[in-house]
Parts: sequence; structure tokens; C-alpha cells
Amino acid sequence: MPNVRFRLNGVETDVDADPDSSLLAVLRGKLGMTGPHFGCGTNECGACNVIVGNHAIAACDTPLWSVSDKDVTTIEGLGIPQKPHPLQRAFIAEQALQCGYCISGILISAAALLMRNPNPSSADVKTALDCNLCRCGSHNRMVRAVLRAAADMAAK
Ligand code: FES
Ligand code: FES
Repeated sequence: MPNVRFRLNGVETDVDADPDSSLLAVLRGKLGMTGPHFGCGTNECGACNVIVGNHAIAACDTPLWSVSDKDVTTIEGLGIPQKPHPLQRAFIAEQALQCGYCISGILISAAALLMRNPNPSSADVKTALDCNLCRCGSHNRMVRAVLRAAADMAAK
């Protein structure tokens, strides 16, 4: 089987898998990155989002071959407990997490937004999170958390 090579959370990664496999299946399977979650499997919920370049994409609906030679960031690459990303700190401060199933996808969409637009409006945040479903209804707190993270990052 041909190898596909890309940078996963900053690390050059070679994976021996069918290039037509979904990126999500390869991340969660062979590569052991279980942060991106399987929700709908049809690019409708955002639970599986990862950053490619500076945009959030649905890994469930992305063939492995299409990320060849690209930078892919999963929630594992955003922050760690010892050094959380400002978004992770802000989500905790705003108590924006409930069950947590959607959160890795939400944080990824928010991080991609802040890469493109470090000073978003509330409307910008809502647009960026529009494709992320949260059955727990934490949306308003999430928007506040993203704005808080943007302000924290600007203050540094
Ligand atoms: S699992 Fe990929 S968008 Fe829902
Ligand atoms: S926090 Fe439960 S689905 Fe979003």
C-alpha cells in the first residue's frame, strides 16, 4: 500500500494506508489521535474537525491523499494539560463545556478562526462555529470563551 506523508501536529508523519481512506479513520486508527471525534460521518456536525493550513475541515469527509504534504493539526496539537492553548483556558473559565463530545471540533474551528482573524467579532465567531453542532446547548458560553481567548492572546 502506498505511504502518504504529511505533518501531523508539526511532526513529519508517514502512514501506510489506503489513500482513499477517510482522514478521520486513519487519525483515530493507525495514528492513535482520538481527539477528533466521530459524530455524523457526513460532514454535518464538526465533531471530527481538524485544521489543514488555517482552515477547519471535517476529517470524516476528507480522503487521506488530499492532505499529502500538508500541515494537519488535531486537538492534540493545540495544547496539553501542562500548557493549554488560550482557547482551552477560556473554555474552562467560561464553563463552556458540558458533555464535551463536540468540544475538540469546536476548539479546532475556533483556533482556525483565530489563525485567520485574531480579533473576531461575535458575529465572526458565530459564523466560524456555524457548522459545529452541540447538543448540550453551550453555544453562548462558547462564543464568550472564543472572544475571551482572542482578547487574552492580543494582550500578550
Ligand atoms: S463526524 Fe465529521 S462532520 Fe460529523
Ligand atoms: S458540550 Fe455536549 S455536545 Fe457540546
